[in-house]
Amino acid sequence: SPNLSTCHPTSSQIPDSPHKKSHEVNCCPASPDSGEPIVRDFQFPSPSSASPVRIRRPAHRLALDREYLAKYNKAVAIMKRLPPDHPHSWHRQAQIHCLYCNGAYYQAAAAAADVPFMVHESWLFFPFHRFYVYFHERILGKLIGDDTFALPYWNYDSPDGMPIPDIYMKGELHDMKRATRHLPPAPVAIDYTPDKLDLSDEPPAAEQTATNLALLYQHMVSGASKPELFMGCKLRPGEDGACSGMGTAEAAPHNSVHLWVGDASMPEYEDMGTLYAAARDPLFFAHHANLDRLWAVWRRLHGYHGSRPEFDDPQWLDSHFYFHDENADLVRVRVRDAIDMDRFRYAYEEVDLPWLDARP
Ligand code: C2O
Repeated sequence: SPNLSTCHPTSSQIPDSPHKKSHEVNCCPASPDSGEPIVRDFQFPSPSSASPVRIRRPAHRLALDREYLAKYNKAVAIMKRLPPDHPHSWHRQAQIHCLYCNGAYYQAAAAAADVPFMVHESWLFFPFHRFYVYFHERILGKLIGDDTFALPYWNYDSPDGMPIPDIYMKGELHDMKRATRHLPPAPVAIDYTPDKLDLSDEPPAAEQTATNLALLYQHMVSGASKPELFMGCKLRPGEDGACSGMGTAEAAPHNSVHLWVGDASMPEYEDMGTLYAAARDPLFFAHHANLDRLWAVWRRLHGYHGSRPEFDDPQWLDSHFYFHDENADLVRVRVRDAIDMDRFRYAYEEVDLPWLDARP
């Protein structure tokens, strides 16, 4: 767990990142949550109709839903206008990623007091990002007074959903810092790697689509038969993010899609292609909603139901993070609470899983 009173400037890149450049970043809040911050333990929304289930829909199918787009744009616009120090501001919402992914906090365990706390490349990856998207969505809903508001997901595991969804190409959801040659209608390249960053030719769309589906099959099914493979290695207190490797889906589609979207003419492939800046692009949240959905799909395919954890290990289950909720209260969330998605009162509109048939 992180020690909130240790926030400090950090490097924009983690040690084994593919980026050639880095610089110092300070993502700490102006008034740090230091000393004895008032923290509540997380509570699930009430399981009754008092909290309607929010339905996250595929972003590429929302282009004609004017009412929804007006709400989503309005909520983001309000966030962008809040004072930058407000925990609900677009700025602070994006900085959460920098705090937790660039190691701006040290670990809480006394023996690890000088070891940065980081949530990538390990079993913390899926639980952390589930909470991140969850709170972001509830804050957006709160800002427009709509407790049914749900984020879209970027359904790049379906051929129709592979390009950057059109709704992220305009209004408040647009971001200038993206690779121009990857704008629609180019299908995402789930096999994208850092050495393709300054490249040459890209394969024809049909070929890329087939490659994507085959790689999804591998990373969701054939190469992801055990939790250690899918979720990532077991990070222990005192380790600085370098256990023995990230999960299959964190490598691709997660990392590959980030790098593919980021602007390769920017020094660190901002925004999406680098941890400290990724969440400045609204598309980040649609990307992570899809990963969150793929986690739930993986669980279903591999027989993990309800609250059955992937690892029955207290060091994982009791790890915790802090987020500001929709009331701007600081909340402590534990990995064990992240496991049963249904308790959060959101769901994903079901779509076909064409990659299930893409066995090589
Ligand atoms: Cu914390 Cu997509 O990354």
